[in-house]
Order: sequence, then structure tokens, then C-alpha cells
Amino acid sequence: MKIGIDKIGFYTPHLYVDMNKLADARKVEPEKFIIGIGQEKMSVPPITQDAVTMAANAALEILEESDREKIDYVIFATESGIDHSKAAAIYVHRLLGINPNARSIEVKEACYGATAAIHIAKGHIALNPESKVLVLGSDISRYGLNTSGEVTQGAGAVAILMSANPRIIAIEDPSAYHTEDVMDFWRPLYSNVAFVQGKYSVELYISFFQNVWEQYKKKTGLELKDFESFCFHLPYTRLGLKALKTVIDEGAEEEQERLLANFELSRSYNKVVGNIYTGSLYLSLLSLLELNTDIKAGARIGLFSYGSGAVGEFFSGIVEPDYRDFLYVERHGKLLSSRREVCISEYEEIFQETSLADISGKKFPIEKDPAVICLAGVKDHMREYVYKCNEI
Ligand code: HMG
Repeated sequence: MKIGIDKIGFYTPHLYVDMNKLADARKVEPEKFIIGIGQEKMSVPPITQDAVTMAANAALEILEESDREKIDYVIFATESGIDHSKAAAIYVHRLLGINPNARSIEVKEACYGATAAIHIAKGHIALNPESKVLVLGSDISRYGLNTSGEVTQGAGAVAILMSANPRIIAIEDPSAYHTEDVMDFWRPLYSNVAFVQGKYSVELYISFFQNVWEQYKKKTGLELKDFESFCFHLPYTRLGLKALKTVIDEGAEEEQERLLANFELSRSYNKVVGNIYTGSLYLSLLSLLELNTDIKAGARIGLFSYGSGAVGEFFSGIVEPDYRDFLYVERHGKLLSSRREVCISEYEEIFQETSLADISGKKFPIEKDPAVICLAGVKDHMREYVYKCNEI
């Protein structure tokens, strides 16, 4: 039985910063951010968006009534959780009106969380072929103003509907994975920004990629030539390119050209959104599938997932016939092009406002946020989410 991705939704907040302007403000050459890091814009989340609202907004665009009835598992992957105890999945479950006879949980392993969720979903569907599982990856990447990680911030969510006989991509077996206890990037419970050993994290990312790629080749007998494209977790888009270049010589010239050209398409959305942690790899997949109109049914896509701390996994998927009919190309183009640019001082104000540890008793200006689902305030330490209209 084929199991995989039936639909993918995406959401990012309506505000962004232009990296040329951030570079000017930080007295850095813009080429460092645009070329050296590979980021052009970064999404900025207003106080009315958090991990829950972004995930719910992403899922809103893909779910039909029949999906809501068949979903019996909601798995929310995030490292920007809003509660140490209650799963973010439960809020989304209610906001989207999903079948009450469902499991709803939150999973965590840095940016790897959504990949873990996809494999949990796959196992669940193998045992329960009628089931559909909603996998959410939603995060706000925060390093702090004037830090070296600032250029790699971002915000957004993906919502993935997993099912048997998927209409976009069937996930193949086996995959190759690797865990090591390392301190490359982490966020202690008392901090709202991440701590990072930047250069070390980059080295680990590349060595994990090489490790799992070697393992994957041994397990499957597949080679570079068997892939239409590779998609990477993209904390910043240049890093995926660096990783790809470490193995590209394994292919003939024509294969190298194809993989490099497809990599460019697979990083387009990530370049203008920034790091969305758990959702980053799947945003890259979406970017590839939506922007390359030429990918044929049966093409194999390689997927490299990395979560600091660290876990890495390489796995693959086969593109299904008619997959294009189940993408939301126009809507995603509009979501990205209709965002409003904020100047650096406005971004800094928003950053400070959203850093407050205690927001209890506050109401937020949801009328300024075009998103359908917003955080309206916090009362008695309970977050109040609103669904502003019935249409998206
Ligand atoms: P940095 O020290 O500001 O930058 O930190 P740099 O000096 O290394 O420069 C970056 C690149 O720009 C270099 O290229 C420069 O040569 C180039 P490279 O050596 O990489 O080939 N450059 C220029 N290029 C063109 N024109 C110029 C120019 N000037 C310089 N004028 C760093 C960069 C990424 C380390 C920092 O931003 C950081 O710490 N970011 C956060 C951590 C991160 O993203 N790590 C990635 C791997 S870990 C991961 O993926 C997990 C994560 O997503 C979290 C999770 O799992 O939850 C982060």
C-alpha cells in the first residue's frame, strides 16, 4: 500500500523584512546576506500569530469536510510551543472542527520534528488504512536583534495531510537516520531566543547529511542518478547548496545540472520566508513542486531532514500522477506577494513586543492581521484564538 502526502498547505505571516535593509542597518555588505547566506526576505510574525494560529491557517486551506471526518490523529511538530503541558494540536483540532474521535499530540526534536511526525503517521496509516493524519510543522525562528543568527530568522507553518493512496508523494522505504548528543543549537525553557554555536551547527548539518546519504545508498542501492531532485532542511538556503555540492560529483554532468537547477527552485520560497524550523524541508518540497512545472509522475525526490541536538534523516518520495491538481500554486504566490514590508525599526518593535514572557491580560489588534485565524489576547493565562470568518 502506498502511503504519503495527500495535500500540503502553507502559511506565513503578512509582514516581512528585506534583507538588503537589514544588512544596511547591521552594517554588513548586503551580498553576505543575499549570496553568502542566501536569504532575500524574512517573514515577521506579529503578536496576533503564534505556532498554533500559523499551523491552523496552513491547514485551513487544505482541509475539506471529508478530511475533517477521516482525520483520527493530529501530530503537531514545533519547537515554538506555547505550553509546557497542553499539546498545541488540541487547539488546532478545535479551531478546524476535526472529528473528536482523534488523537492529538505535540512532538519535538528541533527542526526534525515534522519528519518524525510523518513517519509516525505512516506507521499509523499502515495499521489503519482508512485513517488520515494531519501533520503540522509550525515555528517562529528567533535568535535576537543584532546576533549572527538574526539573518536566519523567519516564521511559518506547513500542514501535511498523510493518507493511503496519496495524491502528491508516496513516501518510500527504507530511510536512513542518525542521532548524536551535540550542543549546536538549543533553547532552554527560560529563554525565548535560541542559543547556537553557528559554525559548529553548519559542520554538523553537513556531516549528518553525508552520514545518512551514505547509509541510504547502502540500504537501497540507489544512486544520485536515480533522483530528480534533493530537498533540504533550509535554515538558510545557501547551506542546502553547500551540502548538495559535497555529493554532486557522484553524478554525471547532466545529473549534476538537473540537481542544481532543481535545487534553485526548491529554495525559492525559503529564500523569501526564512527559517521556519520544523516546516522548512516541506516548504522547500512545496517550492520545488509548485515552481517546476516539468516534474513527471514517478520522479524520485530525496529529502534531508536535520534537527539540531541532533537527528538527521534521509528518505525519499515518488511523485504521483496528477499531483499538480492538488497544489495551491496561485494561493501561495499571492500569500507571498501580498505581504507588507516593515522597516527595521518596526521589525525591532514587533520583535520586542513578541518577546514578552507574560502576556496575560492583554488584547491584540486582530483587525490589523489579514489571517483568518488569530490570537486575540490572553485572559487568565488562557490564549484566546479567533476564527474571523468562514471563508479563506
Ligand atoms: P556568520 O559568522 O555571520 O557568517 O554566521 P559567515 O562569516 O560564516 O558568512 C556566511 C557566508 O557568507 C560565508 O560563506 C561567507 O564567506 C559569505 P561560506 O564560508 O559559508 O561559504 N560572505 C559573503 N558572500 C558574498 N559576499 C560577501 C560575503 N561576506 C561573507 N560580501 C551562521 C553564519 C549561519 C553561522 C549564522 O547566521 C548562524 O549562527 N545562524 C543560525 C544557525 C544555523 O542556521 N545553523 C545551520 C545548521 S543547524 C540547523 O540547520 C538547525 C536549525 O534549523 C535549528 C533546529 O534544528 O531547530 C538552525
